[in-house]
Amino acid sequence: MSRQKLHLKAPDNWVNDPNGFIYYKGQYHMFYQYFPYGPRWGTMHWGHAVSEDLVNWEHKGIALFPTKREDQNGCFSGSAVEEDGKMYIVYTGIRYEGSNPEDIHVHQEHRFEATQMMMISQDGQTFDNWADKQVIIPPVTDGRIGHRMHTRDPKIWKGQDAWYMILGSTLHEKQGTALFYRSEDLHSWEYVNRALKPSLPGWMWECPDYFETEGGKVLLLSVMGIVENGGRREEHAVCFEVDFQEEGCRMDIPDDYQFLDYGMDLYAPQTTLDEDGRRVMMAWLRMPEKTDAGWIGMFSSPRVVSVRNGHIYFQMHPNIRQAYSRKIADVSEASPEGYMACFDLQEEETVDLGGFLIYRKGNRICTDRRKVFAAVNGGYYAQSARLTSQTPEIIGEARLEILVDENMVEVYVNDGEYVITNAVYHLGRYITSGEPKSIQLYAPEEG
Ligand code: FRU
Repeated sequence: MSRQKLHLKAPDNWVNDPNGFIYYKGQYHMFYQYFPYGPRWGTMHWGHAVSEDLVNWEHKGIALFPTKREDQNGCFSGSAVEEDGKMYIVYTGIRYEGSNPEDIHVHQEHRFEATQMMMISQDGQTFDNWADKQVIIPPVTDGRIGHRMHTRDPKIWKGQDAWYMILGSTLHEKQGTALFYRSEDLHSWEYVNRALKPSLPGWMWECPDYFETEGGKVLLLSVMGIVENGGRREEHAVCFEVDFQEEGCRMDIPDDYQFLDYGMDLYAPQTTLDEDGRRVMMAWLRMPEKTDAGWIGMFSSPRVVSVRNGHIYFQMHPNIRQAYSRKIADVSEASPEGYMACFDLQEEETVDLGGFLIYRKGNRICTDRRKVFAAVNGGYYAQSARLTSQTPEIIGEARLEILVDENMVEVYVNDGEYVITNAVYHLGRYITSGEPKSIQLYAPEEG
């Protein structure tokens, strides 16, 4: 199976959300939404990749695929935990009601049912899709609580006294909500409460993730319809510092949120704890069309999530920074995995990274990918993709660390205060800046 370094990408065909991210028995496991038959979305399988260090990845093929009545049309997103040495995977099974005669891999508008399911793997390497799946939560029947079709993406964690689950859902397809369930044994689950934020735009919350950090408690949401852009309501990933009590599963969501990433390409993030106890996140990078190599969909580099003074930081994971250990004088010396560029950006300066422009306007860091996105003319995500992006205002210096490879640029601003990540096509292998400028360049060790 194929190996990848630094950025995990589709092995072929199509990928979307990261799933079941876990450090288990000495290895990181990343599963992902995968359509194995073409570079487009369709009946969802879970692809599987493993890594020792979050830097070098090996694709292991398909882990979950439809076998049961409840998941016959797809294994949607979910998460994984370890208990008694086993890997417990929870996910959403999808069953279409009626089928599209010309394309059995997509549903007919609003005709499907969602069931929460579990698969237990003894070792995280073998997955018996016939013997080891079970239904844990049947489709929601009470529209005052959630939604029969649109309830999905279970994320589970071990709380003080029990297991907890957060699920994305909607009230009457008008207002997003998250449902909380509780379990003593991972098998039987009871509904406890839900979270609402009526002032937040958006009709459906996908891929919720909740966790505690030293500096605060964090909720990640991928909200459908949160932003209006050119008459179309778009989905984007946002994060909040929240208050949460396990007792009664009471969550208070504040009015203020940050975007997860200001490039607005990232979606459906998922976190886990790394081997040193850091909260680490990876997210899907939406791409409007396939690459020259024929695949579509990739993942951000892993980021450490922390909260300081009410701000949520997404820092480059130390293993990633360390992997760029070879100082180079020019980008032409970089390996196929790309390079890292580090510099301070002053007011009115522009740096051109192979056609991707980074500049500072007042106290905002801005990017412009027009020249390396121009050929993009189709696909669902072309409509919403931003050609230019900017961070909120920063205070003082702007220290940038930028990870660049063939199809992705990640701009870390001030050690993760903000990040701008963009998909790119046909990026040039050069860097220029208007003024002579000190730019440090690093490439990964070869091999
Ligand atoms: C988010 C999402 C999830 C769902 C999955 C299906 O991108 O829509 O809500 O489980 O993708 O592929």
